[in-house]
Amino acid sequence: MTKNQKLINWVNQWAEVMQPDNVVWCDGSEEENQRLLDGYVNAGLAVKLNEKKRPGSYYFRSDPSDVARVENRTFICSKTQEEAGPTNNWEDPEKMRATMLAKYKGCMKGRTMYVIPFSMGPIGSNIAHIGVEITDSAYVVVNMRIMARIGKPVLDALGENGFFVPCVHSVGKPLAAGEVDKTWPCAPIEEKYIVHFPETYEIWSYGSGYGGNALLGKKCLALRIASKMGKDQGWLAEHMLILGITNPKGEKKYIAAAFPSACGKTNLAMLVPTIPGWKVETVGDDIAWMKYGADGRLYAINPEAGFFGVAPMTSLETNPNAMHSADANTIFTNVGLTPDGDVWWEGIGYDCPAGTIDWKGNVYDPASGEPCAHANARFTAPASQCPCIDSQWENPAGVPISAILFGGRRPSTVPLCHEAASWNHGVFMGSIVGSEVTAAAIGLKAGVRRDPFAMLPFCGYNMGDYFGHWIDMGKKSSADKLPKFFFVNWFRKKDGKWLWPGYGENSRVLAYIFNRCNGEGATVDTAIGKVPAAGAINVEGLNITAEEMANALAFSTDEWKDEVALIEEQYAMFGSHLPKELRAELDGLKSRLGM
Ligand code: OXD
Ligand code: MN
Repeated sequence: MTKNQKLINWVNQWAEVMQPDNVVWCDGSEEENQRLLDGYVNAGLAVKLNEKKRPGSYYFRSDPSDVARVENRTFICSKTQEEAGPTNNWEDPEKMRATMLAKYKGCMKGRTMYVIPFSMGPIGSNIAHIGVEITDSAYVVVNMRIMARIGKPVLDALGENGFFVPCVHSVGKPLAAGEVDKTWPCAPIEEKYIVHFPETYEIWSYGSGYGGNALLGKKCLALRIASKMGKDQGWLAEHMLILGITNPKGEKKYIAAAFPSACGKTNLAMLVPTIPGWKVETVGDDIAWMKYGADGRLYAINPEAGFFGVAPMTSLETNPNAMHSADANTIFTNVGLTPDGDVWWEGIGYDCPAGTIDWKGNVYDPASGEPCAHANARFTAPASQCPCIDSQWENPAGVPISAILFGGRRPSTVPLCHEAASWNHGVFMGSIVGSEVTAAAIGLKAGVRRDPFAMLPFCGYNMGDYFGHWIDMGKKSSADKLPKFFFVNWFRKKDGKWLWPGYGENSRVLAYIFNRCNGEGATVDTAIGKVPAAGAINVEGLNITAEEMANALAFSTDEWKDEVALIEEQYAMFGSHLPKELRAELDGLKSRLGM
């Protein structure tokens, strides 16, 4: 299939270590996909959903121990711990290689090794990159086929000498002679390893078959390894959605936005505007790769080809575009299975049909108090099926970014929207992204859990140096061409009540941001940046009083003085890796607050 000798040697070398029964090079064809899915159905490990309700769709249940990314088993193995920085788990690379090689030895006995050539980004784009994943999980193959471009066209693009990121994966469950899987194969939690070697751009994953642990193109390559590649090569790999927004005059802009996991990125990316004449279209819902174009503007591609969306709470009400993306040709994992061969989850918008099977494989009892779908149950759906997919989503040149948004769940302190004064101020905003947690909720110290740039679990090197890379990127173009930065907060509360309705109404804030990019829209200067003036955000038709709106936009010196103390605490962790420009931004904020 390929004449790339480096790739052939790499596959042969791993086949020797892992000892699979056979090696299959995936061509990405429909026939191959069907054969693998049929294999699961025939083995009783997946269910083909009702063809009339969900054409071409399949239902899987994972092992109860293998349901989400495992951050405490995720490692950045740079040469020194300092290079991994204070926010990553680090292990000495040579020690880690020895530990994992012992695990990989014979780990594919009784199984097939699949070789999946994949492109993150449109094939041939100068922003895209190629990876090759070897895996003993056909579930990974069928999911990667949706989430990335895979198979023969990728090998053709790779050619004889092209560069690829080598991605090694095994579920860590060799089979004895004659043994077959009766359930989802994986290794116990303490034997799972999600490992990155940033210096050599390599990924080694062992023991998990689920999501970001196993579909190595997503979090492992497109964020952790790509963030390091971006630093080395002068581009950005970010945990950001990309959307296109068109105003009633037909003028269009693109916006990228970083929010921590579970803050509604998919919903914002696919938002249905409530204000007349405005349109939002989706380029991506999770990851953006950005590079400067010849015109000095930042251009972004979505490196993925599908959505790996959280199912619970997704409904025709909250996100009709995500729902319709998953109407067909979708893989559902850890949701409920209804008696008529469809899927169900909490928040889908209607009652659970009697006789539904829950994610653990038992008949669901709504009185049990347990959820029917796992909270991290997922749909894997082709982006091309999204009704609001942007016409440019596969443009190899990317889309020009006019604004970058940051946000988190902040019940206090942070206004609905504020704007940075400069690139460095925007980087400062990104560095302090976080969500407030209550002690009761997850048994942690109450306070703000910082998730800088929403990259805390995804930055492949020292986060302080990552801030420095952002500062450096701002020096490569001029202010008139660089995107503007905004911090948004849909989650502010007063007296326990949300101050902003969220969802489709967020289009009102996006419209304000759009106008600001044209130099329009009245603002008020505060110590933290420009806040929308009263009336600058269109609230026509919204049931919100002027006082409530003022509360949503309020800036309080006292609250920000408390915030500064928390930022000082956070920044201390980066020591000499904190760029002097961010220290200057913090000092500037302090002096504007009179501190
Ligand atoms: C995701 C995440 O799955 O951020 O996208 O956790
Ligand atoms: Mn994500």
